[in-house]
Amino acid sequence: MTTPAIETILTEDRRYPPSEGFAAQANAQPAIYDEDFETFWEREGRERISWFEPFTQLYEWKPPYAKWFLGGKTNVAYNCVDRHVEAGLGDKVAFHWEGEPVDERREITFADLQRETTKLANALKALGVRKGTAVGIYMGMVPETPIAMLACARIGAPHTVVFGGFSADSLSDRLRDMECEVLITQDEAWRRGTTVPLKRTADEAVAASPSVKSVVVLRRTGNEVPMQDGRDHWWDDIAMDKTACPCEPMDAEDLLYLLYTSGTTAKPKGIVHTTAGYLTGVATTHHYIFDVKPDSVYWCAADVGWVTGHSYIVYGPLANGTTGVLYEGTPDFPDKDRWWEIVERYKVDILYTAPTAIRAHMKWGTEHAEKHDLSSLRLLGSVGEPINPEAWEWYRRHIGGGRTPVVDTWWQTETGMILITPLPGVTTTKPGSATKPFPGVDAAVYDEQGNEVGPGSGGYLVLRRPWPAMLRGIHKADDRYRETYWSKYDDVYFAGDGARIDRDGDFWLLGRVDDVMNVSGHRISTIEVESALVDHPSVAEAAVCGRTDAQTGQAIVAYVTLKGSEEASVEKLEELRNHVARKIGPIAKPANIVFTPELPKTRSGKIMRRLLRDVAEERTLGDTTTLADPAVVEEIRDRAASEKTEE
Ligand code: WT7
Repeated sequence: MTTPAIETILTEDRRYPPSEGFAAQANAQPAIYDEDFETFWEREGRERISWFEPFTQLYEWKPPYAKWFLGGKTNVAYNCVDRHVEAGLGDKVAFHWEGEPVDERREITFADLQRETTKLANALKALGVRKGTAVGIYMGMVPETPIAMLACARIGAPHTVVFGGFSADSLSDRLRDMECEVLITQDEAWRRGTTVPLKRTADEAVAASPSVKSVVVLRRTGNEVPMQDGRDHWWDDIAMDKTACPCEPMDAEDLLYLLYTSGTTAKPKGIVHTTAGYLTGVATTHHYIFDVKPDSVYWCAADVGWVTGHSYIVYGPLANGTTGVLYEGTPDFPDKDRWWEIVERYKVDILYTAPTAIRAHMKWGTEHAEKHDLSSLRLLGSVGEPINPEAWEWYRRHIGGGRTPVVDTWWQTETGMILITPLPGVTTTKPGSATKPFPGVDAAVYDEQGNEVGPGSGGYLVLRRPWPAMLRGIHKADDRYRETYWSKYDDVYFAGDGARIDRDGDFWLLGRVDDVMNVSGHRISTIEVESALVDHPSVAEAAVCGRTDAQTGQAIVAYVTLKGSEEASVEKLEELRNHVARKIGPIAKPANIVFTPELPKTRSGKIMRRLLRDVAEERTLGDTTTLADPAVVEEIRDRAASEKTEE
């Protein structure tokens, strides 16, 4: 079933073949796709990371559970830190840290990482942490967050990082589910010039988490916070012992971390990631996809609290000995050029961010980037949601100076590593397409019955062969693991995303399956309509969802933020509906458009479509604890209600 929208996209494709200059120096060369999957991972496994004992079997696949690099022993912190110091790179900068207050900066070298992880690891041991003891980490974007993760990895203590924007309830749910014995946190975090009371929230969470015996507290803002005698310890008071703390030899399949992610029920899923397969997967993808060089300054602008931060701020880049940027604040504080000032200061050559951030910058205008010298940039990346072609083009042109490749990378918390992506220097990119499966990855699009669909048709994205960084299950929830990912099709991983493959074999991600609407029997993705709306010169941002409609099955509701100078009006509404009809086809014309000054987003910047759907359906609102600004939802609901009355 090919919708008119798909045809539109196919005929309007713009293509960016790799430049000769980039291709000649690229880490990835075209022959990478010819390599057999086992040869590829066998080599990457042996060469990309260092082993205490080599593996004896590449992988074992007993659906739905995989193991990788069986028999091998290694340690993630050894790979990310110690081996670089041993190789003489102790003075190399691991992180240029930029605080939110404009005058706070630190340089953390690999030798610093070794010293600080050793000190914290010794302190954790003194608190009773052993191999296998679970540790929670509830912190902001400070160097001590990666240090805490690496200190855990050093002694074989699995961690769970909980994003600093989560509530006490969300934190305690995770601490209880993983049975964490120690929580590492900080007094407060900076956010847009005010402080976020992490320790106080942690106290509330710990009160409801009986497994937690000790709390380690980093001084960040220095403001006074309550400390409980016997339970709470200042980081600096206990992380004093510089005695060498050997990296614990870990089995390839030992647990590295859990990361909780939302599913279709209220209870978050603890996604299981283990040691060697995960590390090989993230280091290998980081090397080829970001074309990282020894002198690169790489900036992944995600939060460490999400999987992007785990895989592509901490583990992948550090395993590759890469210099990174770690930024504590938001893109528009104190000014909207803050990011570009950072790019200029550190001569960042690789920038990896999310479409929602790109669209925010689009909305603010090009003048902020124009104030700075961004000529160091060589490569741009995007992740987290489908990127609309307009944002892709804007990003390449206004940030990448019209010269950089843009890699749109598809993956998930569950996949651990990027799975569908261009390889810069090899792949001809098209704005809006994540292009090809990474070497060795077997991705396909299936219809409802499990038949592989051909070019042009929409369907469900599946993965038919295991990959090294794949999840090893959901913590304490085998049934849910099987049900969520492996029950739709036999022995094939169901990603929960809609996708289609075009006639060049390029993948177009259409959003979560529950974000795909069905209007009069036609499949229309929310992203296609959003993309069309954002294409209109008056529109800054748009979010689209379906609501139940007696006649057409679903009707499309669009929430639109207009650009600063634009006024909402009935005329504008008609103009936008017609614009969508023009871009995609009359079938995609929104039944209703709600103008709103902001869209409700999670702290990580994802538009909360579930909430918008709830508003559209006039249901009670779901959980808003991850909302950046809960008031926005109320505002939208009020407007939606008044617009309905006016109809
Ligand atoms: C979901 C995973 C992967 C790190 C951040 C999100 C969507 C992610 C893309 C992309 C289209 C994308 C998918 C996926 N997604 N990247 N390049 N193009 N969609 O991790 O929270 O686990 O979310 O994000 O829907 O299933 P996550």
